[in-house]
Amino acid sequence: MGTTNDSQAFDLIVIGAGPGGYVAAIRAGQLGLKTALIEANERLGGTCLNVGCIPSKALLESSERYSALKDGLDEHGISVGSVALDLERLMSRKQGIVTELTSGIVGLMKKNKVTVFQGRGELLGAGRVAVPGVGDAAEEPARELRATSILIATGSAPVELPFLPFDGEFIVSSTEALAFDEVPKRLVVIGAGAVGLELGSVWSRLGAEVTVLEMLPQAVAFADKQIAKVLERSLKGQGLNLMLQTKVTGATVRENEIHVSYEDKRGEAGELACDKLLVAVGRRPYTAGLGLEAAGISLDEAGRVPVKVKEGFQTSAPGVYAIGDVIEGPMLAHKAEEEGIAVVERLAGLAGLVNHAVIPNVVYTHPEVASVGLTEEAAKAQGLEVAVGKFYFKANGRAKSMGETEGLAKVVADATSDRLLGVHIVGARASEMIAEAAMAMEFGGSAEDLARTCHAHPTLSEILKEAAMAVDNRAIHS
Ligand code: NAI
Repeated sequence: MGTTNDSQAFDLIVIGAGPGGYVAAIRAGQLGLKTALIEANERLGGTCLNVGCIPSKALLESSERYSALKDGLDEHGISVGSVALDLERLMSRKQGIVTELTSGIVGLMKKNKVTVFQGRGELLGAGRVAVPGVGDAAEEPARELRATSILIATGSAPVELPFLPFDGEFIVSSTEALAFDEVPKRLVVIGAGAVGLELGSVWSRLGAEVTVLEMLPQAVAFADKQIAKVLERSLKGQGLNLMLQTKVTGATVRENEIHVSYEDKRGEAGELACDKLLVAVGRRPYTAGLGLEAAGISLDEAGRVPVKVKEGFQTSAPGVYAIGDVIEGPMLAHKAEEEGIAVVERLAGLAGLVNHAVIPNVVYTHPEVASVGLTEEAAKAQGLEVAVGKFYFKANGRAKSMGETEGLAKVVADATSDRLLGVHIVGARASEMIAEAAMAMEFGGSAEDLARTCHAHPTLSEILKEAAMAVDNRAIHS
């Protein structure tokens, strides 16, 4: 990482080098702003690259291949000899990907003339940020940076249940669950959100007996009800024990075994024993030690930094902006990226904008769940009259040839104008298919626009086209 003199002046200081912060820094560099990026960790990339999106996708891919080799090839007429798992190698592949990507960001910073400081940035008041040294430089006086604008992009950290503190060994967060050194015999996961279901799937495929406890009546709270049901059924079919409407009330560790107590949907108490307990009940904005008080910023009731979105993500302190997980909205890397770019473009006199109505949300289970815009239920709750079209993977030729017949796409349109309000998909490659829906919505498109767009045959994307045709009751293959 770069070093610099004790006091330096910048146009922009970005605090936090996750996808929100580092992308903003690159855009600032492109636009000619003299930019500093402060990161507490040794590696750039934040949660997403180091202990989030990327390593989890690497593990999902490896575990999916492993389970397909073990159980999924018979129907193709392919028999495989014995299949063995080398967890150490699987983990080192994951780590290699992380290292390559995070080192790549160092290169991108150099290319865009962004000066990187390692340390925990602390606001000192208008336009000033302190960066205490870390490691060998810990004893040295903090460096002080100055800038016209400061962007807070410090992200979030896993939520700890008050009665279940993380101990790093038995009761763990996603960070540890991405790096177990052996497959736990029994894993209990609290929370059927993205983290719980993705990591639950990984360890289940690798051989763990996995139970997921979720207090709500459906998995993946943001998803359309029918879509969530398809996923729940599928995960259960894969051997995941998914217990909905089940609230965890406590856990104790006795002789290397965790005893998790819960209350089920009938209000009856139960207990489960396991070897690892993953707590995946959400994330909270990360603002510790940021010096918000010195800057005159108070957090809202959810611990977030309040911003005026329409005024370019301005906080209550002049010249201080905030984006990503630390502010309102879904905690998603791509949302943070868009916001960071918008802030910087506005600082450079351009028209930076984020359309928060069109932020796709994906859970990378198998099948995948992908969603953009309003669900049917949410649209109706807003008083909108909707027309809905559905199309099932099992009626699509490509899905059949892939052996991926589970799932459906659902298009929600305004009943009067036909404007797209939301698209929801559960099925193979839903994460890639949703981009088309997001694009159509971004352009203010209608269901008919999707329906009349020629899609290559045979592709899974035809499922989306047919679902859009079904809005007007004219799907061809159903
Ligand atoms: P989440 O908020 O998505 O899900 C947490 C789940 O835990 C909820 O369904 C909640 O009802 C449940 N829960 C809370 N307390 C509970 C209790 N005491 N007993 C039983 N269930 C309980 O949070 P998650 O999965 O930890 O993810 C954190 C954030 O990171 C989310 O904003 C998520 O969108 C994001 N993320 C996104 C990914 C993606 O885009 N694929 C992957 C991983 C995380």
